[in-house]
Amino acid sequence: MASLGRLHEPRIMAVANQKGGVGKTTTAVNIAAALARSGARVLLVDLDPQGNASTGLGIPTDQRRPSSYDLLIDEIPITDVVRKTDIANLTICPANSDLASADIDLVSNEKRSFLLHDALRHPVMDGLELDFIIIDCPPSLSLLTVNALVACHSVLVPLQAEFYALEGLSQLMLTIREVRQSANPGLRIEGILVTMYDGRNKLSQQVEADVRATLGDLVFQTVIPRNVKISEAPSYAMPVITYDPSSKGSEAYLAVARELLVRHPLRETQE
Ligand SMILES: Nc1ncnc2c1ncn2[C@@H]1O[C@H](COP(=O)(O)OP(=O)(O)OP(=O)(O)O)[C@@H](O)[C@H]1O
Ligand SMILES: [Mg+2]
Repeated sequence: MASLGRLHEPRIMAVANQKGGVGKTTTAVNIAAALARSGARVLLVDLDPQGNASTGLGIPTDQRRPSSYDLLIDEIPITDVVRKTDIANLTICPANSDLASADIDLVSNEKRSFLLHDALRHPVMDGLELDFIIIDCPPSLSLLTVNALVACHSVLVPLQAEFYALEGLSQLMLTIREVRQSANPGLRIEGILVTMYDGRNKLSQQVEADVRATLGDLVFQTVIPRNVKISEAPSYAMPVITYDPSSKGSEAYLAVARELLVRHPLRETQE
C-alpha cells in the first residue's frame, strides 16, 4: 500500500533575524507544528538561551537537561537530547540558559561553527527518520546563529510589518553571504515571512508593499496577521494551531506550511 515515506535527508531550516521580537519563535513553533500535522516528522531545535520555543511546547524548565547546550558543547548524541511533545510527529531539542555562555565556552574550539552541523549529520539521526528540522535562533548574529546558518539548507526570515522592518536585514544578508562563501556554499533563503500584519493599518500595508517590491519572490505569499490567539497560545504551552485551530493566526501558519510542502514534498514510497 502506498504511504507517506520519509525524505532520506531532512530539510533543515533556520528561523533567523537578529532583531528581537519579530516572531522567530512563534514562527518556528507554529511551522514545526503545522508541518507535523501534515504528517511530516519534525524536530524543532531550540537554539536560544531564552528557551521560548521549549516553553511554548510545554517542556518544563527543570526538564531541559540535557539540552542543545550539551549537544553542542559536550557533543552528546542528539537521540539523548530529543524529547517528545504533545503534538504527534513533533519532537524538540530543548534549550536553557546554559546556552548563554556558548560563545565563550567555544572560543578556542576550532570546530565551533560546525558543531550543530555535525550533530545533525551524526549517524544516529537516521533512526529519527525526520522530514524537517526547524532551528529557532536567538536575536543576535552570534556563534549560535552562525551554527544554525552553517547547519541548515535554508533560512527563513520573519520580518515584522513595522516601519524599520527592512533595516537590519542587510546585516543578516551579509552574514548569510559570508557563511555561503565559507562554510555552507549551498545556503539558500527559504523565504521572508511578513509577521504581525495589521490589515487595518496603512503602515502595515505600506511595509508589505515595500518588502514585496524590494524582495519579490523571496517573500512568502502568506502573511501572518497580528492575532491575539497567537500571543495567548504559548501561555497554554501550545502552538496556536492546537490552541485555536480556526483562528486567523492558525490558518496563516497552516498556509505557510502548505507553501513549504509544495516546495519540499514528502516522498511517497511503496511499503
Ligand atoms: N502574529 C502575531 N500576533 C500577535 N502576537 C504575536 C504574533 N507573533 C508574535 N507575537 C508575539 O510577539 C512577541 C514576540 O514574538 P516571538 O517571541 O515569536 O519573537 P522572537 O523574534 O522569537 O523574539 P526574540 O528575538 O526575543 O527571540 C511574543 O509575545 C509573541 O507572542
Ligand atoms: Mg525567540
